[in-house]
Amino acid sequence: MVTVDPYTPGQVPRVLAGRAAELGRIRDQVSRVVAFGELGGAPLVFHAPRGLGKTSLLRTAQREAEEVGCLTAWVACSRERAFLPELLHAVRRSLERAGLPAGGDREAGRWRTRLEKVSLELGLPGLSVGGELRTGVDPVPDASPPAEAAPIGALEDLLHDAATLARGRGREGSRGGTRGGVSPGAGLVLFLDELHAASAVDLSILLNAAQNLGGAREANPLAVVTAGLPVTPEAIVRAATFGERSVFVPLDVLSDDDARALLTVPAQAQQVTWSPEALDLVAAECHGHPYLLQLLGSATWQVARPASGGVLEAGHVVAAVPSARDQLDAMFRARWAGATPGEQAFVRAMAQVAQSQGADNVTRAAIAAQLGQPSSSISVPRERLIEKGVIEPVGHGLVRFTMPGFARWVTELSGEHLTQE
Ligand SMILES: Nc1ncnc2c1ncn2[C@@H]1O[C@H](COP(=O)(O)OP(=O)(O)OP(=O)(O)O)[C@@H](O)[C@H]1O
Ligand SMILES: [Mg+2]
Repeated sequence: MVTVDPYTPGQVPRVLAGRAAELGRIRDQVSRVVAFGELGGAPLVFHAPRGLGKTSLLRTAQREAEEVGCLTAWVACSRERAFLPELLHAVRRSLERAGLPAGGDREAGRWRTRLEKVSLELGLPGLSVGGELRTGVDPVPDASPPAEAAPIGALEDLLHDAATLARGRGREGSRGGTRGGVSPGAGLVLFLDELHAASAVDLSILLNAAQNLGGAREANPLAVVTAGLPVTPEAIVRAATFGERSVFVPLDVLSDDDARALLTVPAQAQQVTWSPEALDLVAAECHGHPYLLQLLGSATWQVARPASGGVLEAGHVVAAVPSARDQLDAMFRARWAGATPGEQAFVRAMAQVAQSQGADNVTRAAIAAQLGQPSSSISVPRERLIEKGVIEPVGHGLVRFTMPGFARWVTELSGEHLTQE
């Protein structure tokens, strides 16, 4: 029987390997919403460098939340767009799909009014919060605040209403009904991905609204689950002092067992197995990095093209490495091109130090020495590269590249090639 490559480099995986503890934390909050009709808890914030599985985790949790009867709204934040208007759209779409509000003209009218109010407060760049904060990515510095500018309150009211409507669905008057035997009327779960890209003002409004909703937790059947790059916790605490009450959860690379499960479980579904040697090779090459595992898993499958009952062998892996490397190079090239000349110089120096020391973690002092600059003058490129997810701090003034292989790629480029890029 013909088989199909089950691996998903760059897409939400068919099977989420590992992450049981992280999914458990989300489930705890969702269960509270479902069982008690109350707030799940302080916003959950998963943070990790690129490719470690934040989106995959949130998408899996979203599916689970829907399976237990929650409505969900998903927003991927971006520096180009204000995210609160997107959140409104996502919440509205989610309710509409469930046939809400359905309690007759009065309820629908009330909901429309609520939406209009909150759109006015949040949707237009330049609206002011308490005379100080401005929503949007391009604030208008001298726009005078409208008389009723209260985006926090407006968002709070809207989320309260939306969560209450979601909870009430399936009860009297609702057309939402039961889907596939699932009990309706659980509540609302917001999933906010790429949260580091949200503007500080939008973030502040959201955190304030969430904090206020927590003041009446039993009245708000809602949970907020977010993810972003490692700078996210810092951005949150900067946006609102009480932001530190969010629950911060770092995502690490997969354990060796989970890395192997990432490869074997999707293959088993098609009666294809991995030889132990092949598994060892992939595990050694990828260091538990989920994107790399998917990439090399897929490349191996393409080389082997196994029939059902077939075995993926070490030879297939060896033959697949060049094509996986090519794809990885394309990603590295994009990272390189997205860096300023100052950041590129930092990356090059850091890669040289890492390669010469044979270590992943590099000190700030060693990078500065390699560049022939004082340690204090490399702060800006260092911060920017952390923000972009190219490098990450690992404590005690140490940083490392977030993608295995990037240091080698940078040092392997000829000097001429580097200056041309
Ligand atoms: N637990 C997992 N099990 C299986 N595959 C995974 C897992 N986590 C991530 N992946 C795979 O790794 C790749 C990257 O995952 P994902 O896009 O979720 O990462 P991310 O942290 O959101 O990255 P980015 O910061 O670039 O958005 C995807 O191809 C996905 O299929
Ligand atoms: Mg992602």
